[in-house]
Amino acid sequence: MDLQEIKTDLMPRIGDKAPDFEATTTTGKLKFSEFNTGKWVIMFSHPADFTPVCTTELTAFAENMEFFTTMNTRLLGLSIDSIHSHLAWVNNVREKLGVLFNFPIIADTDMHIAKLYGMLHGNESSTATVRAVFFIDPDGFIRLIMYYPLNVGRNMEEIKRVLVALQTADENQVALPANWKEGDKVIIPPPKSVHEMLERVADDELDKVDFYLAKKDL
Ligand code: BEZ
Repeated sequence: MDLQEIKTDLMPRIGDKAPDFEATTTTGKLKFSEFNTGKWVIMFSHPADFTPVCTTELTAFAENMEFFTTMNTRLLGLSIDSIHSHLAWVNNVREKLGVLFNFPIIADTDMHIAKLYGMLHGNESSTATVRAVFFIDPDGFIRLIMYYPLNVGRNMEEIKRVLVALQTADENQVALPANWKEGDKVIIPPPKSVHEMLERVADDELDKVDFYLAKKDL
């Protein structure tokens, strides 16, 4: 199939329910909705096994496994390589770098899941998934999507930062300013009525630029 024919309007977007699927992975068969139950999931695609940038990226994910576990988050990789290729690559990285990719990697040889999640961008590559990252909450909703091209690796610190940001925003009903990191002040949602606006104006406790831009410590 010509990848440029894939309909991009079918791609899931922020706020959509993550499409369910069954997959063959490096840790066995997996049904996404079960894997996602009660957990955040970061699902990410890489272009191909045994390629340099992908090796650095999946190594970075594996090295941060403890962080993701602490954040109640499961990792789920995907490429359109076979399970045999995945296993050979996992073993090669284990031998050469001493790092085990101890999260499931989907062998999506028929591209079924890659198409379902819009991971094939035909003008970037007709043979490989781009570097997509989907942040999916425990209710199964897509909360943040990243796409990177084939020649630029993803930033693990940014992936960790936005995961903390999403969870912090949910837990505290706040929004987060540019470049926010854990420990920084958070934004209180703007008032929605004149009454709330006057209350906000009168509140001297807040770090306030004006009624619509007010921050507080958590
Ligand atoms: C890489 O991971 O290094 C890579 C993969 C596909 C195309 C180009 C680079």
